[in-house]
Amino acid sequence: MSGGHDDRTVGSDAAAAPTDLPATKRVGIIGAGKLGMTLARTALAAGYEVAVASSRPAERIALSVDVLAPGAVASTVEDVADSADVIVLAVPVHRFRELRSDLFDGKILVDAMNYWPDTDGEDPELTAADGGSSVVVQAHFPGARVVKSLNQLGYHELDDYTRAPDAPDRIAVAAVGDDRLAVRAVMRLIDRLGFDPVDGGPLAKGKLLEPDGSPYAETLSADRLARRLSAR
Ligand SMILES: NC(=O)c1ccc[n+]([C@@H]2O[C@H](COP(=O)([O-])OP(=O)(O)OC[C@H]3O[C@@H](n4cnc5c(N)ncnc54)[C@H](OP(=O)(O)O)[C@@H]3O)[C@@H](O)[C@H]2O)c1
Repeated sequence: MSGGHDDRTVGSDAAAAPTDLPATKRVGIIGAGKLGMTLARTALAAGYEVAVASSRPAERIALSVDVLAPGAVASTVEDVADSADVIVLAVPVHRFRELRSDLFDGKILVDAMNYWPDTDGEDPELTAADGGSSVVVQAHFPGARVVKSLNQLGYHELDDYTRAPDAPDRIAVAAVGDDRLAVRAVMRLIDRLGFDPVDGGPLAKGKLLEPDGSPYAETLSADRLARRLSAR
């Protein structure tokens, strides 16, 4: 993994910057709930292949996938991990430790989870993590290329605010991570999903994107989001 640095590149031009990674074709989503299904729909609309899994057998979620994200493939966690280029983790944060630590080795893993003790229950390790929950997620999946992103907006906003790249009211979504190429790849994904990507710096900055962080659930332009993140 490459070391983190703190540049704050913003917007579609940044997402188009060269990278040695092939373009993402298949997005995998672990978690077939409110966020997972919304992201599945958004990714399908953006032209990606999408596979969705929960902890249950694929056939147990097939109907809801057909209804809520028609075109996505109901899958198992293992198949998603094997077949997707980028995997979004959208399970309740108190449950990510149920997943095998080597499951996402070598894969870009977008941690879209938020730690909210009121709903998740008190988790001493997450509470003590100065750098936020994604640092703990990275420690649990040491071989994964963890990027925190897609966690800032509620699922309604993700549904309602997708825009073409040149739309004047396009809002921003930040990505943070220590693996800079993985952050670039996720920024491209964000751009294609319909949001302006903002590079928020290293993974430990992810704390600013969680419920106590100021940008949470606000719909901000890329410049305003980047300024907010720089100021803290
Ligand atoms: N809802 C939002 O607007 C929103 C926005 C930003 C971020 N987030 C974050 O996204 C995460 C998911 O939120 P949500 O609202 O989508 O929750 P949700 O509606 O309760 O859905 C959670 C999904 O995760 C699955 N799941 C749980 N444990 C699993 C495991 N070990 N392996 C595979 N799948 C598992 C659940 O299915 P089974 O229990 O059947 O496996 C369910 O499909 C949370 O961390 C939340 O903080 C949510």
